[in-house]
Amino acid sequence: MYESTSNAVSLPNDIARIQACIDNPLDRSAIGKKKIAGVIGDVPSSYSKSPSLWNGAFRALGLDAVYLPFDVPDSRLQALVAALRKAEHLMGVSVTVPHKTTIMPYLDDLDEQAKQINAVNTVLRTGDGRLVGYNTDGKGFLESIQTPQPGQTRPFVETLKGMDVLLIGAGGAARSVAFSLAEVLHNGSLLISNRTSEAALSLVEQIRELSPDARAIEEGEIAQAATRVGLIINSSTKGQGGIRKTRDGKLTTLEPYSALAPANPALIPESEYRGAEFHRAWLSASLSDIEANNRASWKLALSIPLETGFSDLIYHPEETVFLRHGRLSGHRTLNGKGMLIAQAAHAFFHMICRPYLDKLGLYHSETYRRIFKVMFEVW
Ligand SMILES: NC(=O)c1ccc[n+]([C@@H]2O[C@H](COP(=O)([O-])OP(=O)(O)OC[C@H]3O[C@@H](n4cnc5c(N)ncnc54)[C@H](OP(=O)(O)O)[C@@H]3O)[C@@H](O)[C@H]2O)c1
Repeated sequence: MYESTSNAVSLPNDIARIQACIDNPLDRSAIGKKKIAGVIGDVPSSYSKSPSLWNGAFRALGLDAVYLPFDVPDSRLQALVAALRKAEHLMGVSVTVPHKTTIMPYLDDLDEQAKQINAVNTVLRTGDGRLVGYNTDGKGFLESIQTPQPGQTRPFVETLKGMDVLLIGAGGAARSVAFSLAEVLHNGSLLISNRTSEAALSLVEQIRELSPDARAIEEGEIAQAATRVGLIINSSTKGQGGIRKTRDGKLTTLEPYSALAPANPALIPESEYRGAEFHRAWLSASLSDIEANNRASWKLALSIPLETGFSDLIYHPEETVFLRHGRLSGHRTLNGKGMLIAQAAHAFFHMICRPYLDKLGLYHSETYRRIFKVMFEVW
């Protein structure tokens, strides 16, 4: 918890209540009496692109609003949600790893799709102070692969109708993507692989009605499946930059791993974290596993037909090991930048800022185009 009392005391009450629940200091001078939006996650202040995207769009539209990162551990999530409910200047928040599912019981209402997916990535604060959860990840993903990105004339995928797709991962983002894909694949089949096979099996059960051909496969079956599909999507955290904390307080990183093969990195107790020494200790303990993962991935990438697209939800790093292996073996690749921007622009325009834009007469398609363009430029 951030403990600068001098900062907390002089903040407006609603912001001081939020500050008491989070680990990062809020910038008092940037807040003033502005309307507020933000992102809830483990440490979004250290890696999230969302604050620069949203604040860039606020500035471009001349809105008196600010978007803030909220770093919150599981233990203070419920208290933070209560503080957000009371925050009169709050328009809404985005939700990211690892709170997308754990936040759900604390909200006042859930959109049907968020219930189905069992994950929330956007929370609106209504005029009467209720917090309502939605999920727009899947829609953002589809938009990013089916619409030409700025500067391009063709989309990453012309049509998903009838395409066979391999989805790696079955966490919050994967579930949202799977529901959206299931609606558009028609007779194409969706293969879902997850480290924990139960999660893939249960996701397949849930989308069975929309996608009768959906099937869960083991991580060890990725190699076979990947050579038979038109599109491979990584929606797992394999390849994600930065240090990750497991629920039992251990630290690790998945950045050197490709999604095409298993990853069993070393886990180091948080109490042993010593900056650069952590990286050295972690790397020497994980090196042979990384080498095995990368070797298997290179070999597989070389055997995948050239027409198969490699798409990753991750945008940090911009090119994951999975995408690098895809590109260097001759495939088309796409990272998660377009998805993040598509769902951010959607949440900004249609959801979180909609009442504000309505009031200013700015809720029209030109504003949406502007938001999208600015977010791409400030990336
Ligand atoms: N571009 C965007 O707009 C956007 C939007 C949402 C998410 N994302 C990215 O998508 C990724 C997933 O996010 P999420 O919200 O779905 O996270 P999540 O709910 O925490 O799910 C994590 C997924 O990664 C898998 N995983 C974790 N460690 C693994 C390992 N060592 N080996 C194999 N699989 C492992 C998990 O498998 P288990 O079930 O076995 O634990 C699970 O499938 C993140 O990197 C996130 O940044 C991007």
